[in-house]
Amino acid sequence: MTNNEEIVVLGGTGKTGRLVTRALRDAGHRVRPASRSGEVRFDWADESTWPAVLQGARALYLVAGPPGRNGLLARRAVDAGVRRLVALSGRGMEHCPPGSFPEMAEAERAVRESGVEWAIIRANNFHQNFSQDYWRDPLRAGRLALPTAGVPEPFVDTRDIAEVAAALLTGDGLDGRAYDVSGPRAFPFGEAIRLIAEASGRRIDFVDLTPEEYVAELRAEGITGDELAELVTTFEMLRAGHLAEPSDDVRRVLGREPIAFEDFVAEEAARGTWS
Ligand SMILES: NC(=O)c1ccc[n+]([C@@H]2O[C@H](COP(=O)([O-])OP(=O)(O)OC[C@H]3O[C@@H](n4cnc5c(N)ncnc54)[C@H](OP(=O)(O)O)[C@@H]3O)[C@@H](O)[C@H]2O)c1
Repeated sequence: MTNNEEIVVLGGTGKTGRLVTRALRDAGHRVRPASRSGEVRFDWADESTWPAVLQGARALYLVAGPPGRNGLLARRAVDAGVRRLVALSGRGMEHCPPGSFPEMAEAERAVRESGVEWAIIRANNFHQNFSQDYWRDPLRAGRLALPTAGVPEPFVDTRDIAEVAAALLTGDGLDGRAYDVSGPRAFPFGEAIRLIAEASGRRIDFVDLTPEEYVAELRAEGITGDELAELVTTFEMLRAGHLAEPSDDVRRVLGREPIAFEDFVAEEAARGTWS
């Protein structure tokens, strides 16, 4: 294999990027996992790190960088010889008010306008938000409170996102479209928390807040500005039902069922994630 066949994975140490790297390597591809602390140094804020990451690569997995950088990065990638871009984005992005989630909106635009083969992965909330990220500490403390109005969501496993990304980065000809990547079944947060509590053998409460109560709780935690606005919009999109339909795209791309939330919960509970 030559350098020309290498694949750049931005966010290569992150929740999806490290699994995209593993999936590609397992399939025999050469990968440059790139981030500030990863195998190949890449910093969105330091353009001097970009050329070495991009030069001679044939495809790139784009975890959105700061607004104002994504289009530039895509152009530099294409100039350096990259022929395919796959961007990670969020489920329901097409329904978001203009100006919301500017990083992901810009990453979507950057790959669409790149002039090379592209795909967008619009993922539901990750299973791993419950185990590695936002919701793990509240669950361990016994109370998760979010403004969901009981609307269901087909949460998705990062392992499925990574395998879809690896397939799109390496498969024959891309059709230039957005893939909705979800789990197999939609259910409310209250049910998700009940499954986690049962599997962990402990009491965990889910509190369905009003939007006003949610904003008050975020402010009390010191969350303000763009971060607060983004969280509020996330749950507006959820309550409007834009994230609620299970999609067939994992099955279409991978030829198998997506990982079920119950299986994820059993694995994590056995590891003591919420104990
Ligand atoms: N969580 C969800 O449910 C969900 C659902 C849909 C879409 N998304 C989208 O998914 C994206 C996040 O992807 P992820 O969860 O795979 O990543 P992640 O776990 O949030 O990790 C972020 C990655 O970006 C790298 N990074 C951070 N700052 C950087 C910088 N200045 N320069 C270069 N690299 C930098 C980090 O590595 P270093 O620290 O080594 O630099 C890390 O690899 C976001 O755009 C989010 O909106 C998330």
